[in-house]
Amino acid sequence: MIKTSLDQAKQRLELAQNSDDLEAWRLEVLGRQGSVTAMMRGIGELPPEIRKEFGKQVNLARKQLESAYEDATANINTGGNHSSDVLDVTLPGTPTLRGGLHPITVVRRQILDVFTRLGFTTVEGPEVEQDSYNFGKLRIPADHPARDMWDTFWLNEQTSDEKLLLRTHTSPMQIRYMEAHPTPPIRIAVPGRCYRYEATDATHEWMLEQVELLAIDKGITLANLKGTLQEWARQMFGAKRKIMMRHSYFPFVEPGVEVAIDCFKCDGSERDCGICRGSGWLELLGAGMVHPDIIRDAGYDPTIYTGFAAGMGVERIAMVLQGVTDIRHYHSNRFSFLSQF
Ligand code: DAH
Repeated sequence: MIKTSLDQAKQRLELAQNSDDLEAWRLEVLGRQGSVTAMMRGIGELPPEIRKEFGKQVNLARKQLESAYEDATANINTGGNHSSDVLDVTLPGTPTLRGGLHPITVVRRQILDVFTRLGFTTVEGPEVEQDSYNFGKLRIPADHPARDMWDTFWLNEQTSDEKLLLRTHTSPMQIRYMEAHPTPPIRIAVPGRCYRYEATDATHEWMLEQVELLAIDKGITLANLKGTLQEWARQMFGAKRKIMMRHSYFPFVEPGVEVAIDCFKCDGSERDCGICRGSGWLELLGAGMVHPDIIRDAGYDPTIYTGFAAGMGVERIAMVLQGVTDIRHYHSNRFSFLSQF
């Protein structure tokens, strides 16, 4: 009789779907009015010869049912799994961090997008450079004072006859690309990291990114350089922008120019403008007409081919666009800074 009741109770327990079912079962079986409790109460009234044995059986059954009940409770609470992988859909979720592009990457892409639309192909060159490409072939000989502008990190290794260094600018790629392409036309944009042995401050870092431009073809003039940069400035900083070129010196171009745009923040109207500091102009890049010696050394006839080159610092342009006043923020890896973009 006990065995039958036990089996039936177990079967009914298995049917329980939720904690309400479980509670109903518990009241019915193990509760104060429950069937097992009633049997326990009945023990005293049994004839002494079967009382002991019956008591033992009832107790055993009760223990089995109690542990079956505990298992069933645990099972229902964990949705049938082990407690370690409980899925409680009511708990707030763990927020996923959303990634984003580095602010310098964003601006580098903006710059290259404009030049791509203007017909320039993006190519990249080595960061570890030979002395001759970084300097000599760009008409910067060993004792030239212009080297002071580009002090760099030297590597211990060297090629058979020259020292290796971390390039100080992307200009060496002008030479590499011309050497690899026997006939113009050439229209390339070269993004990449450059390194300078430099004390850092709010506007100088020992690592920076540049974008270099090179265009070589028949009949290229300074007007093409100006038109290209003017259009680039409009697309980067707004349709109203004007550019200004002032003479400057870079050994690999003749003439060389420094290019500024008029201030997009104040149009030159605010004396204490945070961007142009009241000057009305933002100095952005260096450029010029490729020196005829360089065209000749590349194997092109300088009486037929001319070209222009330009080089710009991506951090400098990013700072202006993003209103960042200290260049060191960009590579500080601080999340509080980066997550603003
Ligand atoms: N390479 C120069 C620098 O890092 C920038 C530059 C100036 C590049 C004039 C050019 C150029 O192509 O024509 O300071």
